[in-house]
Amino acid sequence: MESQKLQYSRATSSEIILGSEIFKEIAARVHRSRTAKKCAIVTNDVVNRWYLQPLSAELRSRGVKADEIIIPDGEKFKTFETAFSIINRLCELEIDKDCPIISLGGGVVGDIAGFVASVYKRGIPFIQIPTSLLAMVDACVGGKNGLNLNSGKNLIGTFYQPMLTAIDVSVLKTLPLSQLSYGMAEAIKHGAIADSAYIRFILKNTEDIKSRQTGLMQRLIRRSIHIKKSIVQEDELDTGHRYQLNLGHTFGHALETAGSYIRLHHGEAVGLGMLMALRASATAGILEEDYTEILRQLFNDFNLPQKVPEELEKKEILNTITQDKKKSHEGYTFVLPVKLGKVILHKVAPEQIGAFISDALKNI
Ligand SMILES: NC(=O)c1ccc[n+]([C@@H]2O[C@H](COP(=O)([O-])OP(=O)(O)OC[C@H]3O[C@@H](n4cnc5c(N)ncnc54)[C@H](O)[C@@H]3O)[C@@H](O)[C@H]2O)c1
Ligand SMILES: [Zn+2]
Repeated sequence: MESQKLQYSRATSSEIILGSEIFKEIAARVHRSRTAKKCAIVTNDVVNRWYLQPLSAELRSRGVKADEIIIPDGEKFKTFETAFSIINRLCELEIDKDCPIISLGGGVVGDIAGFVASVYKRGIPFIQIPTSLLAMVDACVGGKNGLNLNSGKNLIGTFYQPMLTAIDVSVLKTLPLSQLSYGMAEAIKHGAIADSAYIRFILKNTEDIKSRQTGLMQRLIRRSIHIKKSIVQEDELDTGHRYQLNLGHTFGHALETAGSYIRLHHGEAVGLGMLMALRASATAGILEEDYTEILRQLFNDFNLPQKVPEELEKKEILNTITQDKKKSHEGYTFVLPVKLGKVILHKVAPEQIGAFISDALKNI
């Protein structure tokens, strides 16, 4: 097991531990960290089946009582209503200010529990145990959380750093392969932004990643966390530097919206968004190294799509991008690749945006 310390400008620090079969160690840390002899675990009904009892049992063996709150599985429950029901339950359970709330689940559970921890009694200690690859490589770093409204995704949220993030790669064995691939789309994005050697590492090890080889998964997650951590530490409140993390996301979000969030998963849309960004960058004369074929190879290996579904309307894609993007007088801003491991911000004039997006969609 290994440990990393994160230091944030807002005088909060957050520790990440990474290992395999570390529930015992997590329980020991919960026990050591607080005077409270009680905590609340938030999980969903899928993750519950595998991991709630083992975690509760470890906590109990340390004398920590774990109250369990189980929410339904799925993005559609990432709502204020779910958060509110958890808050009411915390009151009924008499969870005090010094009792930690532990999230055990993917990004959805992590976002809801993080939000609740940040507002309940004006903030109680938060411990996260991400169980999906996407949550391990991406959502668990940065201290953001978000809830969806009918008007859009992640429209409510806070910045709140967990006191501990505990990543146990052994739980990946039960994660469906499709979900593993969605996490890989974000990991590939990290390499494309900042680390070409990381992309080569992934290319070389696709089979072992798919079989969730323990040591390899730890190396992968460590690398992604390192990249995301170095970017968010420069920009804790998301006012500038984090823009790099949006590679593939402006295009990807438009594809997700055009498909009503049903046709494409976020991870699939981000992959396609990266292909669009490469194409747009080539047309804008920015691209120094075209790594489209490398991405296509990776998407093929992880069974991620390489073509925008035909039924998605170009008009809808364009509309979403123009509504989504804050338009300054200089135009719309996009994150575009320069070469493997390097991106830049690029402005597109309002009168050129239609042609820019049509071109980005060509052959993709
Ligand atoms: N806060 C952030 O910075 C941030 C960043 C990226 C994404 N997110 C959010 O994260 C969410 C997506 O996260 P996700 O992809 O983890 O989705 P998710 O939480 O819905 O998990 C995906 C599926 O995998 C299941 N699952 C999770 N771990 C499992 C395991 N070990 N074994 C078996 N099944 C398991 C879940 O029950 C679910 O069905 C979105 O809501 C997104 O907005 C937040
Ligand atoms: Zn993403």
